Order: sequence, then C-alpha cells, then structure tokens
Amino acid sequence: MPPFYVTTPIYYVNDAPHVGTAYTTVNADAIARWHRLMGDDVLFLTGTDEHGAKIAEAAAAHSMSPQQWTDTTVQRFRACWKSLDIGYDRFIRTTEPGHHDTVRRFLQRIYDRGYIELGTYSGLYCISCEDYYLEEQLEDGNCPIHHRPVVAMEEDNYFFKLSAFEGRLLKWYEDHPDAVLPVAKRNEALGFIRGGLRDISITRTSFNWGVQVPWDERHVFYVWYDALVNYLTAVGYGSDSDRFDHWWPVAHHLIGKDILKFHCVWWPAMCMAADIDPAPHVFVHGFLLVGGERLSKTLVARSGEDGGEGQTTSPVRLTEIAPDALVDDFGVDAVRYHLLREVPLGSDGEFSYEGIVSRYNADLANNLGNLLSRVATVVGSKCGGTGPACDPQSPLAAAAGTAVQDAIDAWNRWAPHEALEATWRLIGAANAYLEATEPWKLDPGPDVDAVLGSALEALRIVTVLVSPAMPSTAGALWNRIGFVGSPADQRLPDAAAWGGYPGGLAVEKGAALFPRRKP
Ligand code: MSP
Repeated sequence: MPPFYVTTPIYYVNDAPHVGTAYTTVNADAIARWHRLMGDDVLFLTGTDEHGAKIAEAAAAHSMSPQQWTDTTVQRFRACWKSLDIGYDRFIRTTEPGHHDTVRRFLQRIYDRGYIELGTYSGLYCISCEDYYLEEQLEDGNCPIHHRPVVAMEEDNYFFKLSAFEGRLLKWYEDHPDAVLPVAKRNEALGFIRGGLRDISITRTSFNWGVQVPWDERHVFYVWYDALVNYLTAVGYGSDSDRFDHWWPVAHHLIGKDILKFHCVWWPAMCMAADIDPAPHVFVHGFLLVGGERLSKTLVARSGEDGGEGQTTSPVRLTEIAPDALVDDFGVDAVRYHLLREVPLGSDGEFSYEGIVSRYNADLANNLGNLLSRVATVVGSKCGGTGPACDPQSPLAAAAGTAVQDAIDAWNRWAPHEALEATWRLIGAANAYLEATEPWKLDPGPDVDAVLGSALEALRIVTVLVSPAMPSTAGALWNRIGFVGSPADQRLPDAAAWGGYPGGLAVEKGAALFPRRKP
C-alpha cells in the first residue's frame, strides 16, 4: 500500500471554525478518502494552532487563561469537524508536550548548525497576522488585511538566516517542478524568493504563551515557527525514525493562499537548515469570498465588534457562514458537496447561500436523488423490489467507463470539482437512458430487467465515486441498492469496472435523500 500523508493548516483557536477553514478541511478529507479508496495507506492530519499573542489576547478578552481558552475553543473545532464528517487520523494541538519537545529538538538542530543568531528587531507588527509589516505595505497606517492598527515593536530576537537559503530554495524548486501547485502559486513563491529574502525574527520576549527556546529561556518561539513544526511532530521527527521515514517523503500540505509565504519559502528553508528534505508537495487553494471580501473570522469578529455589518462590502451574517449551522440547514453532504463542487480548488470563488440552494436542487435533488428514487420505484413495481443483474452489453457501459476515467484522473490532480462533474455526467446519462427507455411503461420481463440492471449498476459506480465527497449519502445509497457494508471498503479502479451489480438484491426506495428546497 503506497503511503500518502495529507495535512491541513492547523487553525488558530482565537475563534470558532468558519466556512473558510471548513473549505480546506473538507477538501483535505475528501482527498484522504479518495486515496483510501485507491488502496493507499493514508495519514490525514489536522489540528489547532494554540500559541501566540493573538490567542493570549483572545483569552484575556474572555477572562480566561490561555490554556483554559484553548481547551474550550478546541472543542468547537472538534465538534465542527465531527458535524462535517471529517475523518482525520490525527488531531494535533500545539500545546501538547510532545509537540513542544519536537519544536525544541528541531530548532535546536537549526541553531547548532549555525542558522540562528541573536539580533534586535524593530518593526510594525499586526497581532492578527502575527507578522511584521513595512511602512509602505500599510493602508492608512493599518494592516492591509485586517484593517486594524499595527504596533511599533522592538525586541531582542533570535533570527533565522533565511537569506542564506535563496539559492538552495531556487534549486529545490527547479529540481521539483511539482513541489507547489497550481503553477501560478509556484510562480508566486519563486517571485518571493527572487525578490530577495531577509533574515526573520523567530522568537519573542514580549509574552510567554509559546514554546520556550531551549538555549535561552527568556524567549519563546514566534508562533509560526512552532506551528509549522506540527507537520513533523505528527510523524515522529526525532523520536521515531521509521515512522518519520515512512511518512515525510509523501507529505502533502493543503493550504490557503494567505499562508503561501510561510509554507513555500520559510518552511522549506527551515527544513533545509535542519538537514531534512522539504515537504515534497504543497497545494495552494484560493479563497471563498462573500461579496468580494475575504470571509475570515477576524473580519466577522470585526463586523460584530463594531456592530456594523456595513464594515464589510456586503453584510456577513455569521449564522449563515458557521459550518455547523449550514449542516443543520442542508445536511452534511449537501454542504460538503457544495464546498467541493462549486469552486475549482486553486481558484477564488463566491460563496453564497443562494448558490448552495441552487446547486442542491439541481445536482442533488433533481439528478442524484431523482435517479435513485426512479430506479427504486420501478424495481418495486416491475421486479417485486429485487434488483435485476447488470446488463454487460448496456449502452451505459461506455458512459460509465469515461466517467470513471475522468473522475480518477481529476481526483489524482486534486480537482474535486472536475471529479464530481464527471460523476454527474454518469448520473445524467443514466437519467437520460431511463427517459429514453421508459421502463415504467414496459411489461415486466427481460427488457425491463436489462434497463434496471444497468441503471442500478450506474448507481453502484456513482456511489463508489461520490463516497469521498459524500460519505454518509454514499453509505445510504449503497444499502438502498441492496449492498451490506460501506462503499468505503471498495477498492478502485476494480470497484468501478462495469458489471459489478450482481442482481437479486433487495432495493429500497426509502425517504427522499435530498428533498427539493424552495429557491
Ligand atoms: N494557524 C495558521 C496556520 C498554521 S499552519 C502551520 C493559520 N490559521 S487560520 O485559522 O487563520 O487558518 C488559515 C487557513 O484557513 C487558510 O490557509 C485557509 O486554508 C483557510 N481559510 C481561511 N479563510 C478562508 C477563506 N475565506 N476561504 C478559503 N479558505 C480560508 O493561518
């Protein structure tokens, strides 16, 4: 079984999860499930980023200690991911003692190799970004992302000699053309590097909510330096070399475009400084936008604090963008499907309530739901509820073959929207086939059996193909067309070869999977 290691960013626990963080997590989950279906040995890591000034500030604002605050907020992430059916293998918290050990071990190694030095830093700092800005990057004196004042800071800091890695990073990207995808994002990373790299400050003395620097206990590591190391902690860096050698060479980081610099410039340089290979794959996705402005929790918090929804270019209503609220409203798989299908992974796209409703009605109620309900109804009326066997010569076989090939190809390119589009072409072909043959008008007999056996076979294949995107719907479909167990136990590509529906299984219509919604 080839190993496959996929990670999400670890999310700040200064506030609750939102649709933006759910977007990354659902995509990573679907990709992990896809690889399991292909028979790979998968490790799917997600978690929470719990240190830094921003978290300490949020805790103080709620009159809690940082530890109490993170212990409380992490539960909201776990609950939200549960409601979204996220099947991670490991949930890491950066406050875990084992993670502190890994951070210290990793950075001590970089220090020992001479890539960390003491210096003084003065600059303009945005607490929400946990990053410094240059005067000319500010907008009206404010952080260009969070639109809040930056603070002048001067600290004795340890610096990581990022500047020493310009040449090595360029060489790495030259030797690894697929290291950052899509290509436009790779070019952005190269642009950063070619623009010249300055050494970066990696420790703080102004607060102590972080991992203590092993060689100087007055300092804690800057939160990004501790956070990135989570990807190593989870695979046993410095503590379990077999585990590390198994997973690290197949690491795939899925991230949003806002954190490209950290993952595609700083992180590979840090790995090189510690004398390990950088993660071989980073996939950078775009942003979901509401009315053109980024739907981030800091902005939502800002509009709440100011009591002014007019602060954003369009009103952002938290109740409409909290993932669990959407799940309560539409059902988990409708939300997952929308997040995977609506916007090509890698591009920016609009997120709207109306968009979910219209895709739900078109794709889920009218196409997938309708196919199952028609087939089950006619199997009930013409075949006594027992599904006939698949017709090996069916005209649907070719459409299925193409859909399967296209879906496999698209999932392998991390293009869930295309994979689902291909899967829906098969659903469309099966519905069109039923409309052309009208089995409901035929007398029971071999012709009806051939048509329904083929439609059931198409449904079987569709069920397997949609299972990474919609695990619980796929489970229900699987049982309704007569199988026991779960489609997740199937293995591709064999499970999608035409001819697998055996016949003789009890087909159950049941309640509508996706009742139509009012537009
Ligand atoms: N803690 C850091 C990451 C450290 S990883 C070593 C962080 N956390 S975050 O909570 O702010 O999450 C950022 C990530 O959330 C983005 O990279 C992206 O994956 C996701 N998104 C946040 N807002 C988003 C949108 N509006 N649209 C899509 N994804 C969004 O940064």
